[in-house]
Amino acid sequence: MAGGLGTRLRPLTYATNKHLLPVYDRPMVYYPIQTLIDAGIDDIMVITGGQHAGDFIKVLKNGEEFGLDKLNYGYQEGEGGIADALSMAESFVGGDSCVVILGDNIIADDIRGAVDSFSNDFGCYVFTKQVEDPERFGVVKYDEEGNVIDILEKPAHPPSNDAVVGLYMYDHTVFDKIRRLSPSDRQELEVTDLNRLYLKQGLFKSHKLHGTWIDCGTFDSLAKATQKFYKDNE
Ligand code: G1P
Repeated sequence: MAGGLGTRLRPLTYATNKHLLPVYDRPMVYYPIQTLIDAGIDDIMVITGGQHAGDFIKVLKNGEEFGLDKLNYGYQEGEGGIADALSMAESFVGGDSCVVILGDNIIADDIRGAVDSFSNDFGCYVFTKQVEDPERFGVVKYDEEGNVIDILEKPAHPPSNDAVVGLYMYDHTVFDKIRRLSPSDRQELEVTDLNRLYLKQGLFKSHKLHGTWIDCGTFDSLAKATQKFYKDNE
């Protein structure tokens, strides 16, 4: 998912899409695509939008850089949110399950095990990571036994420090569920509301990530991501 206007990263995003900005030696979107490739996923659709959507073709072309011979592209009209963007993939996914990754998320964990176990499962898998600034993200709420009982989008008073990572796995019912969503206060179909539908049906599992996770949506986190790879390469 690589849409949106990238308003939080202006002026960097006036002339290109946020997900094509550099993170050390490559465009940001390379990292989540590589996460999918490393998990054995090679049937990939990039969903973008806005004025700079054409830049993706110039950068990613047919995915040769990742050993692919073809990449699929979807275009989201307007800024309808992550769940709305996912609905662009309905005919691409067909009756299969799918893995969704946000184009500004850098995930160090190897997710192949989770992808493999999800392919024999149903419902929705969500991944969490303990952070110091949960109010920036979707946040899970636990009961006393440690079961997830709710997910809140950017809560002013977070019920835990476990942020929802921009990585989700869904069964084939996801597109029907998206049709049941209503726009949030910011007029978007929220991925958090989609995940809450699965949670209410008891078809939801959450997994904690252990490695580095960076959402590059702010100047500080973008700088941190570049720093991480720069340091790793020293
Ligand atoms: C989105 C989701 C949020 C999630 C985050 C992860 O937020 O709405 O639930 O925690 O991605 O990167 P956004 O970064 O689009 O504001």
